[in-house]
Amino acid sequence: MGESISINKNLPISEKYNLLEEQVKALIYGEENIIANLSNIMSAMKYGMNYFWVGIYKVEGDQLVLGPFQGPVACTRIPKGRGVCGACWEKNQTIIVENVDEFPGHIACSSESKSEIVLPVRNKNGEVAFVLDVDSSKLNDFNKEDQIGLEKIVNIIESIL
Ligand code: SME
Repeated sequence: MGESISINKNLPISEKYNLLEEQVKALIYGEENIIANLSNIMSAMKYGMNYFWVGIYKVEGDQLVLGPFQGPVACTRIPKGRGVCGACWEKNQTIIVENVDEFPGHIACSSESKSEIVLPVRNKNGEVAFVLDVDSSKLNDFNKEDQIGLEKIVNIIESIL
């Protein structure tokens, strides 16, 4: 295939996410393997949006287990309710953290991570099946526009589960 992801970093944020959504759809078209698709989606997100870290954790029993990601190595297992990812799973809602040092129980996989957003990825019954975690090396780097944009990617992932 040899496609490359191209998203101009000077575009307004909502435009960037529209392009990311289009490119992610094209990238997974015709492929049904979930690991292959999630792997390419994480790469598209990392290189398209220039995130510090992006990855997906899978719900397995009472823990989240690390799945495809791009960025520095990360914690492999997170108990339900622990850290931002575990809280997102427990509450079944998106969490935006402006300053990770101020989030009780935050799990620091990298000391360079300063802010993050975690979104639930739900199965057909509305239960959390994965969480999508995006980290930034800057404080307060995610807002409602990121949430709306990232929900487009979550919708794509939910459609291929
Ligand atoms: N910071 C997350 C853990 C995952 S890493 O950031 C990759 C948390 O507190 O749940």
